[in-house]
Amino acid sequence: MTPIQQNARVLWNRQVAPGYFKLGLSCRGYETAIPGQFIMLQVPGNGSPLLRRPFSIHGLLPEGNGTKAGIELLYKVVGKGTGILSKISPGQNVDLLGPLGNGFLQAPPGSRIFLVGGGIGVPPLVFLAKALKNRGMDMSGCHMFLGGRSKSDLLCREEFEALGMRLHLTTDDGSEGNQCLITHPVEQEAEKATPDIIYACGPLPMLACLAGIARSKGIRCQISIESMMACGIGACLGCAVAKSGDPDSYWHVCKDGPVFEADQVDL
Ligand code: FES
Repeated sequence: MTPIQQNARVLWNRQVAPGYFKLGLSCRGYETAIPGQFIMLQVPGNGSPLLRRPFSIHGLLPEGNGTKAGIELLYKVVGKGTGILSKISPGQNVDLLGPLGNGFLQAPPGSRIFLVGGGIGVPPLVFLAKALKNRGMDMSGCHMFLGGRSKSDLLCREEFEALGMRLHLTTDDGSEGNQCLITHPVEQEAEKATPDIIYACGPLPMLACLAGIARSKGIRCQISIESMMACGIGACLGCAVAKSGDPDSYWHVCKDGPVFEADQVDL
């Protein structure tokens, strides 16, 4: 699938939780995009016109009811660029490059699956869960581990509940779910019944801990790595992560990832 650079029309840009927004974009070329892939979006008027920012694809928008096909992003306002983005109105255009990178390998129906999302790592896992369901997976047997600093950082809870997944919530401040690291319930559930695969996206320490759990139990683990990116196409070398077992060699998250087998990366 060749990435396309295009002007994408903003369909909606609405706040869904304090500091979190969903952005709907009308664009072409995403019909076969897969969960885990991302886009580079140029925030208009950010003063650095060459710089695009990476956002994982949260969902695909089907064509119909007078609307064109497109994608939806879920982002957190963390600085100047996303602050400007949060003010963009429907009808405006944004410069978009994608779909980029690889995606999660989707396990066959009947697999025992753990999804682990920390903070703003959750959006691509909604796309993945929906794709697995579309492939015939019985989602009531799948576990979703959702973690965040506080209750308002537990993203997309309703989407996972609507899919019928078994939800495990953790927060750093104890305002919702258990007050512990998200990896604790993962370890506990893996003790009860070993999953066939763990899919994870979130902060590096969380991914490193999950990789250790997976390694010790012989579980396949696919991780999506969040990284600063300037180009998104392997040209600037700004997103390098060391290869496992060979710290002098590097993967480029934008081109070789963002999804990796956990044991490929030196976390
Ligand atoms: Fe430029 Fe990855 S972002 S090489």
